[in-house]
Amino acid sequence: AGVVAVLPAAGSGVRLGAGVPKAFVGLAGVPMLVRAVDGLLASDVVGHVVVVVPADQVDAAAAMLTGRPATVVAGGADRTASVAAGLAATGTDAEVVLVHDAARPLTPPDVVRRVVGAVRAGAPAVIPVLPVADTVKRVDGAGTVVSTVDRSELRAVQTPQGFRAADLRRAHAGTPDPRTDDAGLVEALGDPVTTVAGDPLAFKVTTAWDLRIAELLLAGAGR
Ligand code: C5P
Repeated sequence: AGVVAVLPAAGSGVRLGAGVPKAFVGLAGVPMLVRAVDGLLASDVVGHVVVVVPADQVDAAAAMLTGRPATVVAGGADRTASVAAGLAATGTDAEVVLVHDAARPLTPPDVVRRVVGAVRAGAPAVIPVLPVADTVKRVDGAGTVVSTVDRSELRAVQTPQGFRAADLRRAHAGTPDPRTDDAGLVEALGDPVTTVAGDPLAFKVTTAWDLRIAELLLAGAGR
């Protein structure tokens, strides 16, 4: 029983340009995937983490995670395939499954607790979100503005995303189309997805700029 987290960490990190898979890049000396696992466990509501890494990094990741309630499995060609591989390794006794990007290494444990709390309170699928600060426009292929989107209706979506285990398994059954998040698969089934407050610290490290911000935040916090 309990809460199991799947941590997709099998991306190549091309946009980061670090020369190693993104999740293995050190942040103040500690690999992002290790920080992400420790953040999940620090919430005290996650019992086990399944970490999904490139096939040639399984042994290296397992060595980094020694002593933690974590298992490591090989991922797939896209994020959706990697999550499916992790989900298959979660075991049937999980009631709640979280899916959390290794690329969000500074996610506060409070966000994890909010998501799990909302699933426990009865929501089948829960995502942490933030309001969007910038004005957002839709453009055509030439970069000419087509329309302005009403910002008040928009939310930026973070992870961990939380699900009743059975619902996420149903959403991943068959060969789902690749999606950028897991709630998208649940939406496609017509199931409700609810939101809780995210946190600026749960930002995704994608570019060298993000990595610099993360390093500065850690230095400021003495971690
Ligand atoms: O590429 P992006 O930043 O959206 O990736 C989000 C998360 O999905 C990262 O933690 C990345 O390692 C993971 N991922 C994966 N398998 C892939 C592609 C991305 O586990 N094939």
